[in-house]
Amino acid sequence: MTNLLDDEQRLLAARVALTQRIDRGNVVLSSRLAGAFLNVPRHPFVPVFYRRDGERFIPWRITDGDPDTWLDAVYTDGSLITEVDGVHAEDAVPAGLTGVPTSSSTAPSLMADMLDALDVNEGDEVYEAGTGTGYNAGALCFLAGDKHVTTVDHTESLTDKARLRLNAVGFDPLVIHGDGARDFPTDGMYDRLIATASVRRIPPEWLRRLRSGGIMVVPIKGTLAGGMVARLTKLPDGAAVGHILHTPAAFMPLKSDTKTSAHVPAVPDGPCGNAELSARILDDWTFSFFAQLHMPPDLVRTYGKNSDGLHVTTLYDPADGSATRIDDMPEGPPMVTSIGPRDLWQPVEAAHQLWQQLNRPRREWFTIEATTTEQIVRYTAPDGHVYRWTL
Ligand SMILES: C[S@@+](CC[C@H](N)C(=O)[O-])C[C@H]1O[C@@H](n2cnc3c(N)ncnc32)[C@H](O)[C@@H]1O
Repeated sequence: MTNLLDDEQRLLAARVALTQRIDRGNVVLSSRLAGAFLNVPRHPFVPVFYRRDGERFIPWRITDGDPDTWLDAVYTDGSLITEVDGVHAEDAVPAGLTGVPTSSSTAPSLMADMLDALDVNEGDEVYEAGTGTGYNAGALCFLAGDKHVTTVDHTESLTDKARLRLNAVGFDPLVIHGDGARDFPTDGMYDRLIATASVRRIPPEWLRRLRSGGIMVVPIKGTLAGGMVARLTKLPDGAAVGHILHTPAAFMPLKSDTKTSAHVPAVPDGPCGNAELSARILDDWTFSFFAQLHMPPDLVRTYGKNSDGLHVTTLYDPADGSATRIDDMPEGPPMVTSIGPRDLWQPVEAAHQLWQQLNRPRREWFTIEATTTEQIVRYTAPDGHVYRWTL
């Protein structure tokens, strides 16, 4: 085991293979970005991560089974989950646990896409919200120089580990335990800001802390699946404008952005109607980001299977108490049942109709504009008609 991690040739081959894998995918790597993936090793940041076994997350160390298989998994182009419901893989019992992932090392190709959009130059002051394992911070240190990087995580044990691991690979950035939406070093101003946790709207502090001409790359996601990544440039007047990246991304939410989790009420059987569409349409990421634009900001979606194994989704708007359940049926159209003042499925179906009418516009054709008070997504159709949504 130890031998494998001392085998420089094997480790270099793993980094080269990962870099080539990223480059063969959707991301054309600049030579500087390729340099980051070739030079910053991933394995020191993820000595233990979770592998999936059905519903369970099982901690996986290099000593568990074949070391080569472990190393291949580390240098695969996939995300590596390191924390589930606040339990770090290093602290988990061997049998593992079930729950919801709360920290991970992002898939390298997604990291590469976001870093490419961030366009980091040597000497740029960079802020990262969501340190996690520290691997992305390591890439930022390679690109900007470690003295120019500040990275923040909500969980102190993560920042403690990440700081040690960054130091171990030769980087010494500022690693802060805090809320990435608002905790900045006094007077800290940045040329580049990246978030690796998603927000529903861009926190105003990010707009204030970005220098004029600076770039931010931010995953934006509501409760419907299919998040998007926005890339914005700050203008001298304080607004930031940009567009949505091609790549879909479902980052875990930035914790401060999560409202006290709304309790979704059970929708009792009652008068119901037919739906045109099954709620499984929301699993289509080419559509769900568009659907999200049409829905209230605090909407909550829960979904699963009913006792017959058929899909069921419930949408809930805590603002007015409306809740709508959409049940797939063994035959025929899905059924819609609502409580409260509004049917919440109707706007999703209307959004789907518009999306088709617009010939399924791709996310990268949308622009975004943000100020500290208003955030707007726009789509200009080929006929010049401008569609506009407020985030
Ligand atoms: C996908 S992980 C980040 C991946 C990381 N960049 C890496 O390379 O390993 C998302 C991280 O965001 C962190 N997080 C959640 N809410 C946060 C907040 N309000 N401020 C800072 N970090 C937060 C989580 O603790 C988690 O570690």
